Amino acid sequence: MDTKVFVSDPHHPNEQAIDICSRILLEGGLVAFPTETVYGLGANALNAEAVKKIFLAKGRPQDNPLILHVLDMGMAKEYVTDIPVVAQVLAKAFWPGPLSMIFKKSGVLPPVVTAGLDTVAVRVPDHPVALALIRGCNVPISAPSANTSGRPSPTDGSHVMEDLSGKIDAIIDSGKCRIGLESTVVDLTVHPPRVLRPGGIPFSELSILVKDIEKGFSKAVEEKPRSPGMKYAHYSPDSPMVVVKGDPLDVAGKINALASASSRPGILCSRETYDLYPTGQKLCVGSLLDPGEIAGNLFECFRLFNKLDVDIIYSEYFEILYHGEAVMDRLMKASGYQLIHL
Ligand code: TXA
Ligand code: MG
Repeated sequence: MDTKVFVSDPHHPNEQAIDICSRILLEGGLVAFPTETVYGLGANALNAEAVKKIFLAKGRPQDNPLILHVLDMGMAKEYVTDIPVVAQVLAKAFWPGPLSMIFKKSGVLPPVVTAGLDTVAVRVPDHPVALALIRGCNVPISAPSANTSGRPSPTDGSHVMEDLSGKIDAIIDSGKCRIGLESTVVDLTVHPPRVLRPGGIPFSELSILVKDIEKGFSKAVEEKPRSPGMKYAHYSPDSPMVVVKGDPLDVAGKINALASASSRPGILCSRETYDLYPTGQKLCVGSLLDPGEIAGNLFECFRLFNKLDVDIIYSEYFEILYHGEAVMDRLMKASGYQLIHL
């Protein structure tokens, strides 16, 4: 299949691209599109055959449900039942934005969208191109991250092309995503509400509005989760990865010792500690004082290591504010929970 590539300014959607891609979606095709978190691989959520193609293109396990992308709560209401008051409060605070809320689904959605579950995750993306696309086809769009299953989520159009070129009908490329980590997923069908995946909205902000909200992911992100929903392999660079936690100077000392015993080590570090590493293929993920920068570059660094031909990656543990929990969740999953705690 020949994948059509459209380029669009993120703030001013390319109208021709939106027209053509809306038509592709309505005809049952797949379109990758930018959101503020990561690129999504979209299909018309009301067309079961189209949604099945998403699982095939990504190599995604059939039992992993998809997020429904809509324009606003009004549109969401057509596809869910039982919207608790807390959802209105969270939507007011965080939509459009990186928060996916799980509701009971209505009968309108085909089962394949939710992998047979009776609940559905819904979000309103905060990206003019994504919103223009939903408006253009006027149906909800089912979209997981637009990567091959198990690979890092795509934060740039070029990442989508690396993984899915030739397997999907079209991609709208708007360059780098603003946040670079996926949405926070919160389950509102249980009491109290539970955060199933840390993401673009930190738990600390949700708990300002929902006092009794709980963490459904490991309390300490470095602990391997036991819950069945977390069973899928995730985000991995091709080489093994080890995370080292402790005082930054001790961490650098330990990583240098480990790196000197490896033949082609990669090192993932902060801007502030970059000069502490004399050898190895170093990548700076961003400043410890700018959590947004680290979140925005993490997945790209994973992909870069694949190109650098390293045989092992040593990463610092990034103790950062705001996006810290989501960043370390992704990093620990990528490492398979290989942690050295000094
Ligand atoms: O930021 C994002 O969320 C991106 C963009 C494209 O919107 N999407 C994304 O989708 O990351 P995906 O499929 O890669 O991750 C969705 C996560 C998965 O862990 C899935 O298991 C969970 O949300 N999920 C979806 N529906 C669910 C449901 N009904 N119950 C429990 N978990 C659900
Ligand atoms: Mg994904």
